[in-house]
Amino acid sequence: MPTAPRPQTLPAWQRLSALTTTLPPLRELLKDAGREQLQLSAAGVTLDYSRQAVNEAVLEQLWALADARDVMSQAQAMFRGEHINLTEDRAALHVALRGSEALNPPWGAAIAQQVQVELTRFTQFAERVRGRGLSGFQDTPITDIVNLGIGGSDLGPRLCTEALAPWARAQPAGVNVHFVSNLDAWSLHSTLAALNPARTAFVVQSKSFTTPETLLLAASARRWLQDGGCPPDRQARHLIAVTARADLAQAAGYAQDHIFQLWDWVGGRYSIWSAIGLPVAIALGAAGFRELLAGAHAMDRHFLTAPPPRNLPLMLALLGVWNINFMGSPTHAVAPYAFALARLPAYLQQLEMESNGKRTHRDGGAVAFTTAPIVWGGLGIDGQHAYYQLLHQGRHRVALDFIGVHTDPTPLPLAPEHHRTVLNNLMAQSQALAEGRDETTTRQRLMSQGLDAESAQRLAPHRTYPGNTPSNLLWLQALTPSTLGALIAMYEHKVFCQAALWDICAFDQWGVELGKTLLQSLAPSTSS
Ligand code: F6P
Repeated sequence: MPTAPRPQTLPAWQRLSALTTTLPPLRELLKDAGREQLQLSAAGVTLDYSRQAVNEAVLEQLWALADARDVMSQAQAMFRGEHINLTEDRAALHVALRGSEALNPPWGAAIAQQVQVELTRFTQFAERVRGRGLSGFQDTPITDIVNLGIGGSDLGPRLCTEALAPWARAQPAGVNVHFVSNLDAWSLHSTLAALNPARTAFVVQSKSFTTPETLLLAASARRWLQDGGCPPDRQARHLIAVTARADLAQAAGYAQDHIFQLWDWVGGRYSIWSAIGLPVAIALGAAGFRELLAGAHAMDRHFLTAPPPRNLPLMLALLGVWNINFMGSPTHAVAPYAFALARLPAYLQQLEMESNGKRTHRDGGAVAFTTAPIVWGGLGIDGQHAYYQLLHQGRHRVALDFIGVHTDPTPLPLAPEHHRTVLNNLMAQSQALAEGRDETTTRQRLMSQGLDAESAQRLAPHRTYPGNTPSNLLWLQALTPSTLGALIAMYEHKVFCQAALWDICAFDQWGVELGKTLLQSLAPSTSS
């Protein structure tokens, strides 16, 4: 493949480098008139980036960089199903999973048809499970579903099921959905201890159907069924497989009508829209799951059609590149101010770090700059009493995404007051991190509180805040399947755009293979 000019040699990249030396601190930028216009909305998600350290000159060069890297033509190639996953010679067509009802989709009628058939199959099955229409070995209804899977076969279904639990309350499922991903036996045991084998079914989720962690969990689950009195010839009633290797599932004894399919063109961390979403469809119902897909599809349409300055995922990607490659913030914290979104940081960790934690350009050349950020974080309110100290006064420069939801459906009398306070915290934290407080102001404040001049002088350095911490405020009007679908799709496209800007492959994950190979060589001695 021909060598593309390296991103850092492009004029826009070099101009951005130069701009870092003249940019005023964030607290000064915040005084600029018209800052409140730094907002974009799409598919029910609003991005307020007024607390990013950018001005008109920086934004112009970021858009120029996107243009020079042909980011939007690369996006069109993804939607057309070109083999953009170069090292595995595959398409990355997760977008087809949520848009195949559209007229003339760019990926073609054949794929659209396959997607529709499987979507109908697994959502109908989900409705049957919800309605307690699946029977166990004693002919009594299954009441508990346990998802066994790891990485993309766990994080997406778990995030969506938990995030939409408040929404699903209005359409309760007749079954409970549990998740086990960790190989440590306690994880499985502590879930199964409260369950009845006669009323429990397992959804074994593995695109490859070779992941050792998942296969051992499935083997233990089968043993638990057997020990619970399930005769071997009735075990298949309790087992459901979601995989791209139906042949392996069938060979392992799964019944054909309990095997649901995804395809090699769906990456594991992009698979929530496929049958990997089965537990979500069980928890929400078929209509709720289709709403999740529709929200993601609305974000896809926005992404493909909005011009760069109005393109929400592209803007997020550019702001990330600005912070990582130019402003010295290689770490990115995600702080949801909605309890139901507690799993979002873990989900984004895989999405961003497994996709873009790369050091090789698409043509095999070495990358000379930082790629994916270190993604971390956790619920904002709890984080304020834990990791926020480092954000306010530590030496790391961290960029943040604050996530807020305008409405809250919790049926408690004081819920509106809880909610107001949660959102006030979000606003106070993003402002404090951006503006900080200098030493002189701190000293004066301490003296106005009654401290003598010497004590105020001594304490002021400890009670000063440098500020200048950039953040995005991401707002949802309400947490619904549609807005959650749009939010996740937005992040997927952000990751895609960053890979396109950096000229790296986002859709392989060779980094995780070496450890697996070494594990295989250790296996005989650890099991003996
Ligand atoms: O090892 C990493 C990984 O391959 C992820 O990309 C994937 O989501 C996870 O393992 C699980 O893979 P599978 O669905 O094939 O079991």
